[in-house]
Amino acid sequence: MVGFSGARIVGVGNQKGGVGKTTNTVHIARALVELGRKVLIIDLDMNHGATRHFGVEPEAFLGSFEMLLGEEPAENLVLTSADNAEGMHLPVGLDLIPAARKLENIDKALGATSKFMTPQEVLKAPLLSLRGKYDYIFLDTAPNATFPTLAAYMNAQYFILSAMPDPFAIAGLNDALRDINDARSRGNPALVLLGVVVSAVDKRTSLANSLAEFVDSSFRTGGSPESIKFRTNIGRSTVIPLTQKVGKTLFETHSTHKVTDQYRALAAEIEERVLKLEASQCEAKVVVHG
Ligand SMILES: Nc1ncnc2c1ncn2[C@@H]1O[C@H](COP(=O)(O)OP(=O)(O)OP(=O)(O)O)[C@@H](O)[C@H]1O
Ligand SMILES: [Mg+2]
Repeated sequence: MVGFSGARIVGVGNQKGGVGKTTNTVHIARALVELGRKVLIIDLDMNHGATRHFGVEPEAFLGSFEMLLGEEPAENLVLTSADNAEGMHLPVGLDLIPAARKLENIDKALGATSKFMTPQEVLKAPLLSLRGKYDYIFLDTAPNATFPTLAAYMNAQYFILSAMPDPFAIAGLNDALRDINDARSRGNPALVLLGVVVSAVDKRTSLANSLAEFVDSSFRTGGSPESIKFRTNIGRSTVIPLTQKVGKTLFETHSTHKVTDQYRALAAEIEERVLKLEASQCEAKVVVHG
């Protein structure tokens, strides 16, 4: 992309489980590919939702476990559309470093190498080696503060939070916000909360509206008139579980569906926000150096 070298590193999170993190990661990534971007998803969740979403058999490949341990160069762990085998559906331009169940033992495995390994260190070298190859690298995280989740917070430039109309959604968002602030003060000062995606919204329920309104009014970036909630909400639809069952994205199975279009609009919004932030960072640099 013009004027930019190296992928944007985007974490997707919320401490609460089942709030759309993986569905959003996969579909935002796929929508960005449709815009011509080259995108990598790194699955950092031992429950390997993103890996399963593309029909990839988690135990069949080396992946994020070996990457975090430094056992394999990250580029050797990348799966692409060229690797598509029986039941595996990675779209062209959307690559994946898969996760497997053994990720739950990563602390112990890292401890055996060095007791002093930090969440910041483990992802640094792999991301550095991959950045030149992509426009975006998405980090899909687990719904709890596992070592790989902390590594995502300590290495991402941007975070996108997921929420669904659910009474516990707000608590999960608040925890994630606290973690973002904590990560900022403990070694990742440039981390930016890019926005909150509200998904599985059913217009008929007042809970959906009240969550959207709550996020809209509560999560504003310091003094900015722009809400931190993305303008585009993702509707609730049965096509999502259906498409996941066949290991594909909506872009492959329901290209003209309303929800697919919402993901297109959301990806455009995300890129708009990223470009705006990059432009303001460039301006700040010019002022400092000028
Ligand atoms: N817009 C939507 N409409 C209907 N169902 C949805 C929608 N988005 C996600 N879902 C469903 O909600 C469930 C949870 O979604 P998802 O796996 O993306 O959440 P998650 O936050 O990644 O979960 P976990 O914390 O377990 O990793 C899935 O069964 C998925 O099919
Ligand atoms: Mg998930």
